[in-house]
Amino acid sequence: MKTAIIGAMEEEISYFLASGESFEEVKKAHLTLYKGNLHGQDVIITRCGVGKVNAAVTTQILIDYCGADRIVFTGVAGALHKELEVGDIVVSTACQQHDLDASPLGFKKGEVPMFDGPSVFPADETLIKSAYTAAETVGGVQVMKGIVLSGDQFVADRDLVNELSDTFNGVCVEMEGAAVAHAAMVNRIPYVVIRSISDKANGEAAESFTSFVNKAAKRSAAIVERMLKK
Ligand code: ADE
Repeated sequence: MKTAIIGAMEEEISYFLASGESFEEVKKAHLTLYKGNLHGQDVIITRCGVGKVNAAVTTQILIDYCGADRIVFTGVAGALHKELEVGDIVVSTACQQHDLDASPLGFKKGEVPMFDGPSVFPADETLIKSAYTAAETVGGVQVMKGIVLSGDQFVADRDLVNELSDTFNGVCVEMEGAAVAHAAMVNRIPYVVIRSISDKANGEAAESFTSFVNKAAKRSAAIVERMLKK
């Protein structure tokens, strides 16, 4: 069983690379792939870069080139759900692209047009359970399961948060999860997204992100580590 671990930014994967394990480094496309073993598990760790295209390309490479059997995305997100606070954890039940809009053609916002599959990509039940159980052991933070919304946009506006909440059923917003989910789904590979909240996607989001990105990224990575230890 080969587990691919993806983060968008250096802060989101550095926890694993600092584990003391040695990894083989392989370059492919824009990626450095770190292949090795963590807590007895065969892993490939990589930083995909920010945004949906980077995330989708990376997922396909991890599946085709590296033989990934399952994908775990780890990182930070902006809160949409009113009860989520900075540092809290979200485990994806599914992911959806919030910026995909072909509504002039009669499609719903977020619906992938003319696609033979769902537009809300379900995460894998076993991985959800494993991530949730691992997250619950952290203590002192809220762990929420829910739909993760993704778009090529850093959301930093209260009105947009309200619009996203009115249109979709998402609990947090980020920039990669749904692309990983879409690519994983068309390849029939199980995935889950784990995100720790770095900001509330409002007018203070940029400052909050800068202050909390490291702590939140580390928290999410620590949950992935606990999943692997099981
Ligand atoms: N990742 C962390 N915070 C985010 C936000 N507010 N919007 C998009 N991606 C994010």
